[in-house]
Amino acid sequence: MDYKQLARQLVFLLQGETDQVAILANTAALLMTELENVSWAGFYLEKEGELILGPFQGKPACIHIPLGKGVCGTAFVTQETLRVPDVHAFSGHIACDSESASEIVIPLSNRSGKLIGVMDLDSKKPDRFSEDDQAGLEMLAVALREFL
Ligand code: SME
Repeated sequence: MDYKQLARQLVFLLQGETDQVAILANTAALLMTELENVSWAGFYLEKEGELILGPFQGKPACIHIPLGKGVCGTAFVTQETLRVPDVHAFSGHIACDSESASEIVIPLSNRSGKLIGVMDLDSKKPDRFSEDDQAGLEMLAVALREFL
């Protein structure tokens, strides 16, 4: 995947926009449209001490995730990307979709540098997300934060 090109597409798509729901919804749609073997792409946002489901594409998902729980809550509190090649081997994984096999969660900050939530991608394919995907998705999160 050419993530630099994807980042350019994202910036083009979001140019001049300020509405957070619209921005995150279109980002989720772009991820789902452009990336292969992704079954769920979206966001969880921190609100009053927990993560709440934000804009996404894919099957309906859990709405509340406690900070520090699951892949999302862990990536949020550690402020580090979590790449999980086999979700069944990750103790504490929250299974929203029993068919999900691998997952990557990237912490998301706004342009002031405040941590606001996470970007989450799931796949039915084991070990779907490589180190290159991680680097590319982290670059996208950096491009995205200028709009948040
Ligand atoms: N599996 C995640 C929950 C969110 S869903 O994947 C959409 C977790 O363990 O945090």
